[in-house]
Amino acid sequence: MYNLARQLLFKLSPETSHDLSLDLIGAGGRLGLNGLLTKAPARSPVTVMGLQFPNPVGLAAGLDKNGAAIDGFAQLGFGFVEIGTVTPRPQPGNPKPRIFRLPEAEAIINRMGFNNLGVDNLINRVRASSYKGVLGINIGKNFDTPVERAVDDYLICLDKVYTHASYITVNVSSPNTPGLRSLQFGDSLKQLLDALAVRREELALAHNKRVPLAIKIAPDMTDEETALVAAALLESGMDAVIATNTTLSREGVEGLAHADEAGGLSGAPVREKSTNTVKVLAGEMAGRMPIIAAGGITEGRHAAEKIAAGASLVQIYSGFIYKGPALIRESVDAIAAMPGR
Ligand SMILES: Cc1cc2nc3c(=O)[nH]c(=O)nc-3n(C[C@H](O)[C@H](O)[C@H](O)COP(=O)(O)O)c2cc1C
Repeated sequence: MYNLARQLLFKLSPETSHDLSLDLIGAGGRLGLNGLLTKAPARSPVTVMGLQFPNPVGLAAGLDKNGAAIDGFAQLGFGFVEIGTVTPRPQPGNPKPRIFRLPEAEAIINRMGFNNLGVDNLINRVRASSYKGVLGINIGKNFDTPVERAVDDYLICLDKVYTHASYITVNVSSPNTPGLRSLQFGDSLKQLLDALAVRREELALAHNKRVPLAIKIAPDMTDEETALVAAALLESGMDAVIATNTTLSREGVEGLAHADEAGGLSGAPVREKSTNTVKVLAGEMAGRMPIIAAGGITEGRHAAEKIAAGASLVQIYSGFIYKGPALIRESVDAIAAMPGR
């Protein structure tokens, strides 16, 4: 069924098809119909960050930036749903076109630039949803907030989403907001992590609820840089790391139509880089912090590879566009079939 839908959707521009799919998934969710589209994954519960997940396969950030279709995605069988990236104020993002499909490579290039309706709207959408499962809210900074003031934007979002999220992802790795990725390094990273840790303690006391914080990183660091990030995260008291966001590399798509578009590359070509980042993190962290893996899962076995590399949970974006909801169950099954599980 998804193959037919995909043939129709892929005739439209990527962004029109994205908007239409989101509307359909949202409407299906409100009517409670999405469970009919795909066979539900078997229960495969895991506990990570102190949270209970019905299965370890989640929706990655960026597909539902405003939380418009939370119920719909949950009904498709995801074990958790991450919405956002959301910024303090609404912003339009970059001029269109800003998403490009590279079907020969099962890849996407995007330079959306955090188009979103702002954090207050997102909270209203969370309130309107009836989802009771694990909800991640991914936060970022407005494009016109100078990077030296980025911490302010993260704290505004943290304050606002705190009581609405199961966990909160701090996105310092999108390539489409100038300067954002510099927050992954050295003193900038340390200052951000310290500020988040202090504010989280205040919020935990005020609300009598400790919401886990995850930091989402890029696949484009050297192994040495990734190791430094791992050390900083361990020291900071953060609860998880998400590896990875999209890549700036064009390895694996050279010569294909749209390969030279600016933006972050996702899907199959980022798979190895992302898995390598997971391996380096796992080596450094030695089980002291859970890793959530994203990047290039287009078949069930790729999800199992991420777990074998040291991840506790996985997330999917591009694979969902190319393969549809069946990839969720395929991934859950492949992980459940791993030796020792
Ligand atoms: C069109 C598009 C928009 C995205 N927007 C976001 C975003 O807003 N925030 C974020 O943290 N990641 C965003 N991502 C990155 C994905 O969450 C994911 O980390 C990345 O695409 C790698 O996974 P994949 O290969 O399964 O797509 C976006 C990806 C795509 C393709």
